[in-house]
Amino acid sequence: MASKQGTTAGIPQGSGGETQQRGGEALTTNHGVPISDNQNSLKAGARGPTLLEDFVLREKIFHFDHERIPERIVHARGTGAHGFFECTEVIPDLTRASLFQKAGERVPVFVRFSTVAGSKGSKDTPRDVRGFAVKFYTEEGNWDLVGNNIPVFFIQDAMKFPDLVHAVKPEADRGFPQAASAHDTFWDFISLMPESMHMIMWAMSDRAIPRSLRMMEGFGVHTFRLVNADGEAKMVKFHWRPRLGLQSTLWDEAVKISGAPTPTITAATSMRRSRRAISRNRSWDCRSSTRPSPMPSPMTCWTRPS
Ligand code: HEM
Repeated sequence: MASKQGTTAGIPQGSGGETQQRGGEALTTNHGVPISDNQNSLKAGARGPTLLEDFVLREKIFHFDHERIPERIVHARGTGAHGFFECTEVIPDLTRASLFQKAGERVPVFVRFSTVAGSKGSKDTPRDVRGFAVKFYTEEGNWDLVGNNIPVFFIQDAMKFPDLVHAVKPEADRGFPQAASAHDTFWDFISLMPESMHMIMWAMSDRAIPRSLRMMEGFGVHTFRLVNADGEAKMVKFHWRPRLGLQSTLWDEAVKISGAPTPTITAATSMRRSRRAISRNRSWDCRSSTRPSPMPSPMTCWTRPS
């Protein structure tokens, strides 16, 4: 016969049963079923095996088993900010999207900045590409525009992406190095992929060690196809320009900051200031350009640890 072992009397301090007795609030399952005990599973007799029909036990263990959200393969480490996009110059010739039709009109946005290679909890200051995932909450629906702070990319064929990411991620057998491209698997990959040479020049420039999230440029990277009210398609590139200008740390600084007690300094300082900067003064301008503008060449200021 099934029986709950040691119900109310056997409940340890603070386990909920007391609350029920003292405050009148019942301990419940996730579905709201009041229960007197979540400490003793249902058994077949006094010393019998645990019974699967104990849905309270199964719910508790199921919940426990799902407490960890699996980490994202890339861009695991991110920081978000709310703000707005204001159209300063209308572009009806390029698009009929509502957010570009009226000068001065504001659209709420949420942006998620991220590093790429580091896992959850990794530092903010690695030499790495930074991702921009911008969500515009427009009256016509949500519009997502992703970008990177580097205008080109390592590969063209998506089939190589898993190999690129496996190469740059920590060595699988030791979880090391974290958030760093300075290891053999990455350079093996690069040495075998001639098409990655352009991006690697950018990645080894000062752009890959930004001083703050407010001091990075952003690029849609892809060429987008916009359609205007006449149904004409226009090919467009998106560039984000920081109002504070492009600023980087020195490699020596980046290494020191990441060894200091608060490796999340880039996000922390940016977030502290972003309430002012993003919501009042706007930190970035977004420009669309249909002209093939020449990209500035990668910065030649190479910095090495002393
Ligand atoms: C072959 C090319 C690419 C492949 C296969 C690829 C694949 C991926 C994958 C699998 C994710 C993670 C999605 C998730 O966990 O939910 C991701 C995230 C991301 N990718 Fe790419 N990617 C590529 C190129 C690019 C390029 C060129 C850019 C820049 C425009 C970019 C920007 C981003 C950003 C910003 C995120 C993070 C989005 C967020 O924070 O929500 N990716 N990508």
